[in-house]
Amino acid sequence: METPQMTNTMPRIGDIAPDFEALTTKGKIKFSEFAKDKWVVLFSHPADFTPVCTTEMSGFATRKPEFEALNTELMGLSIDSVHAHLGWVQNVRENTGVYFDFPIIADLDMKVAKLYGMLQPNESETAAVRAVFFIDPDKKIRLIMYYPLNVGRNMDEILRALEALQIADKYKVAMPLDWKKGNKVIVPPPKSLDELNARLADDSLEKVDWYLAKKDLEPVS
Ligand code: BEZ
Repeated sequence: METPQMTNTMPRIGDIAPDFEALTTKGKIKFSEFAKDKWVVLFSHPADFTPVCTTEMSGFATRKPEFEALNTELMGLSIDSVHAHLGWVQNVRENTGVYFDFPIIADLDMKVAKLYGMLQPNESETAAVRAVFFIDPDKKIRLIMYYPLNVGRNMDEILRALEALQIADKYKVAMPLDWKKGNKVIVPPPKSLDELNARLADDSLEKVDWYLAKKDLEPVS
């Protein structure tokens, strides 16, 4: 017998983001053709016209320029109609002046939600959980967050994680606990004795031990 979870695929970090075509508040979108050469933050919310979701969507909308500065497009999703999405966008705009200026998928048949493991039946059988997929320009999934219905996400952390992924890629480094832009980064551990010896001789590194060394990316002004 199928358990509820078996009707859902759960994409994993490193997978190519599953492709789909969907109706959105910006018209029909084929995901593989969306935001070419850019990162995408694809996120779901449980339902339009609900309080936590309104705060979160407003957060994505007001901080959209910061996502754009990181070469990143936003795409939302819920299991609601385009009509409901439009009503909610207009309602929030009238109430607060915040405009959700990014596509929101109307996933009435739950096709995309199931494809991305956003429908987690033991949390809700009809509403998507609060998922966030960080997808790189090669359409590879690089980081996944899942939050339950009753706890909103943290926009600072979403932006921090996005920037950490991009800087880690660019400089081939790793990010320590609580890393933020401007902090030292971790140099990958040596893979040979030559690399080990070079590391021991490098006085520019902050060395905790031979396998844990940090460096500044740019001189701090
Ligand atoms: C909310 O956004 O407030 C919400 C949505 C669905 C279930 C619980 C809370």
